[in-house]
Amino acid sequence: NHVYHLHRTRYHFQPRKNWINDPNGPMYYNGIYHLFYQYNPKGAVWGNIVWAHSVSKDLVNWKKLEHAIYPSKPFDQYGCWSGSATVLPGNKPVILYTGIVDDKQTQVQNYAVPANLSDPYLRLWIKPDNNPLIVADNWVNKTAFRDPTTAWFGKDGKWRVTIGGRRKHRGMAFLYRSKDFMRWTKAKHPLHSAAGTGNWECPDFFPVQVNGKNGLDTSVTGRNVKYVFKVSLDVTRYEYYTIGTYDIKKDKYIPEKDMIDGWNGLRYDYGNFYASKSFFDPGKNRRILWGWANESDTTDNDVKKGWAGIQLIPRTVVLDPSGKQLLQWPVEELETLRGKKVELSNQNLNKGEKIEIKGITAAQSDVDVTFSFNSLDKAETFDPSWDRYDAQKLCSQKGSTVEGGLGPFGLLTLASENLEEYTPVFFRVFKAQDKHLVLMCSDASRSTLMNGNSSMKDGKDAYRPSFAGFVNVDLNDKKLSLRSLIDHSVVESFGAGGRTCITSRVYPILAVCDKAHLYAFNNGTETVKIDTLKAWSMNRPKEMNH
Ligand code: FRU
Repeated sequence: NHVYHLHRTRYHFQPRKNWINDPNGPMYYNGIYHLFYQYNPKGAVWGNIVWAHSVSKDLVNWKKLEHAIYPSKPFDQYGCWSGSATVLPGNKPVILYTGIVDDKQTQVQNYAVPANLSDPYLRLWIKPDNNPLIVADNWVNKTAFRDPTTAWFGKDGKWRVTIGGRRKHRGMAFLYRSKDFMRWTKAKHPLHSAAGTGNWECPDFFPVQVNGKNGLDTSVTGRNVKYVFKVSLDVTRYEYYTIGTYDIKKDKYIPEKDMIDGWNGLRYDYGNFYASKSFFDPGKNRRILWGWANESDTTDNDVKKGWAGIQLIPRTVVLDPSGKQLLQWPVEELETLRGKKVELSNQNLNKGEKIEIKGITAAQSDVDVTFSFNSLDKAETFDPSWDRYDAQKLCSQKGSTVEGGLGPFGLLTLASENLEEYTPVFFRVFKAQDKHLVLMCSDASRSTLMNGNSSMKDGKDAYRPSFAGFVNVDLNDKKLSLRSLIDHSVVESFGAGGRTCITSRVYPILAVCDKAHLYAFNNGTETVKIDTLKAWSMNRPKEMNH
């Protein structure tokens, strides 16, 4: 049991005990960030869901409050599921959330408002008697009708909100409109839908600036604006997004032509990251994304530990200058936790070499490294029979120890002294017919000596997948950068400035606390240089929900 405690994260958002899932209703209100989240007050497995509530001035230190929304009325007796906050004119926040009304998981949409707007923390929430606001009509599957988004306001004076669901196997984002936020009418057409994707959970829909770094309020429209539409796929447990336009006349979202709108779409994160939600932060003019990481340990171990689930570090999201994808980066406030620092530069890594990054707490650190190389000539040929959309399979075959040409090179995180355990985060460059393909991996397959190993998530064995994604980056400057946030049982990595992100949950038994090591390595025949490397020990926040 001793070792289990060591798997708790120290600077990620994690309550003292019990199960958590989706971040809910994040918002910035009168100088305070609010984070609500799905929480089981009674145990470390999913169930009895309430909205737990925490507040922060800096997204780093959190103060735990009483539960904001919990089952108490006929319209939410069996659960208070995910939803979002909207700040209405007059600076009035309102939450829309999904209520479960019976033991068949019938879903309706409810609202809640703060009891007292002059309470800076908005501790108490009221669920008025005119709930539910939205119930499924006869055409809608009542058990796949949930997770309302932040509402946006149209030029016609109507609010809009979208709700996730499906029609047969077609994933669907239903659209509702309202003049007064109380009486809602379903639009004839959904905001968006896609064949064969199954049930859509936690949709998100928001504008992003073209050629700009500021975030936008959800209701902003205009010329230099594109839209992002994201869903969480119930079946595969991952999220994908597209970038597109919003046809205001038809009230429809239209992904751009070259966007893949389905299983192989772009992902916020190619690892353990789900049910995410973004919000506009008017304090710093940015859009922030919160995602949840489930455990990858066995359910038995979750129960033994008494806790399950963390919220990942909030990320700013902006449109990449190419317009073809998003860039994500940990919020700058995280840097206030940086403690002792070590630096390296101009260090060659020949084939088979590794360098230990000493002098920091490797199990609780922030590492930012830029690698460079002289030539792309040694990049291995990408076999045309390989599936370009199955990066994970490629990574499971070509792991960090398999010699390559240009790469594999990167970091060995949470490594034990003799490398019995390690979680490598690395790149490997391939040459395809038309261009170079950069594979990024975060490979949990050798992360622990704990018994039971599976690349399938079934809750019976620990899930140790070789998560991977391709990085759409121009290699003209012959550089690749990597930032990893390492926190005992989580490694959150940002490749090439946040172009590709991968989160892994891992449970070493040797590489724990001060027994964990960090290395930079290269197993490719092309020599790779550590241009610059900065690594920091991370402090614990002074206040974190205890
Ligand atoms: C996603 C989800 C949501 C639902 C909530 C229930 O993880 O299944 O669709 O509202 O969790 O806790």
